[in-house]
Amino acid sequence: MSDERQSAFADGDVDWSTAGIVARRDTYFAASQRKFVPYETPQIFKTGSGQYLWDETGRKYTDLLGMNLCISVGHAHPEVVAAVQAQVAELTHCTTMFYHPTPAHLAEELAATMPAGHDWVVHFTNSGAEAIDLALVMAREHTGNTDMLALRTSYHGATCGAQALTGIAGFRHRMAQMTGVAFVPEPNQYRGIFGEGVQPYLDEVDRTIQTATCGALAGMIIEPVQGYGGIVIMPDGYMAGAFERVRAAGGLAIVDEVQSGFGRTGDHYWAFEADGVVPDIVVMAKGIGNGIPLGAVVAKRHIAESMADKFLFHTYGANPVACAAGRAVLRVIRKEGLQENARLVGAALKARLEDLQQRYEVIGDVRGRGLMMAVELVKDRTTKEPDPETTAKVFEETRRKGLVVSKSGPNRSVLRMVPPLCLSMADIDPVAEALERCFAAATR
Ligand SMILES: Cc1ncc(COP(=O)(O)O)c(C=O)c1O
Repeated sequence: MSDERQSAFADGDVDWSTAGIVARRDTYFAASQRKFVPYETPQIFKTGSGQYLWDETGRKYTDLLGMNLCISVGHAHPEVVAAVQAQVAELTHCTTMFYHPTPAHLAEELAATMPAGHDWVVHFTNSGAEAIDLALVMAREHTGNTDMLALRTSYHGATCGAQALTGIAGFRHRMAQMTGVAFVPEPNQYRGIFGEGVQPYLDEVDRTIQTATCGALAGMIIEPVQGYGGIVIMPDGYMAGAFERVRAAGGLAIVDEVQSGFGRTGDHYWAFEADGVVPDIVVMAKGIGNGIPLGAVVAKRHIAESMADKFLFHTYGANPVACAAGRAVLRVIRKEGLQENARLVGAALKARLEDLQQRYEVIGDVRGRGLMMAVELVKDRTTKEPDPETTAKVFEETRRKGLVVSKSGPNRSVLRMVPPLCLSMADIDPVAEALERCFAAATR
């Protein structure tokens, strides 16, 4: 990077030139952060509104990724923006040793979204992975046990604790992972190792408890719909059956709703409700803040109470600006009927994806619930051999056709669509037609 460029923008100015943005990031980002680049060439975004994004040249895109599900109620939602602006101007931070009403209101409102008949309490964090770590510590403190079960193809975050619970090699680094985690196969109904059905996967939970743990558990963590694993839905009866076995071994039921929560799956506010389970600990982040960093652990009071003798401090936990955003998000989801919107628009999108599947042999599976949708690409529908090469081609095309989607799954062969919950029926035709052109171009 030239000295002239540096000095020309030294005083708080922003260089919006494409070359300048790319050069600065490539020069000054560490390799660990630089690596996460989806397309063959850099993609820049400047503005967002609702379900749409614009790049630095003014080109418009339909956002089917929601900035990795952080944008839940829509980019720059006026009610969230107003809540954040008001709070940031009045008091930007209030450390948790002091009292402030906004986080306490949000805690009350989150507790009210949980299954009735239980006493729920909330601990706010700054991110999902921090919340996962806290859930892990809480489960171990409460039960006095160490051993955890987690699922293969799960993703729970990048911190040491969350990474140890993550079942995808690409997200685990070359270090001694935290001990006391045993993995069980994900009950993937499309390509799971035991095929379709639930019982073989539950039997494996039994076998794993008996062979890979000391028999006494701290808990098991499950994403009701695996996100980075490629939209793997826990089949009916799996979570209920697995948690029953875990509880019999002294452990807690922990669900990670970081991607699947807040009405995204349409039928339910929390995806775990689909299986009728009542977890002991629920972890949430991403969409709760509509882009403002916020995470939370919501736990049954008697479980959280096990940590009363020592405080656990996140500097920005319960930050009033983030919590003001969180309160506005909950209000907007309710007022604008976004859970119902996710159900209806998600069903319409799924129907169009299934229609595409009829015409493109490469689409092996279409799956999802609400606005948590995916297509999986295969070289052969019988062998189900993953097709990461065609996935990459379709993915590059989506960008050219003005769509933002994500390439996911342990084999990089899944196109994941998790848009802001305000994606509308009017978007479905243009999105489906653009996808059709992407598949046509990539499979020509
Ligand atoms: C299911 C799930 N859990 C936890 C996390 C970690 O959240 P964060 O990146 O905010 O630490 C993620 C992040 O992608 C996630 O998808």
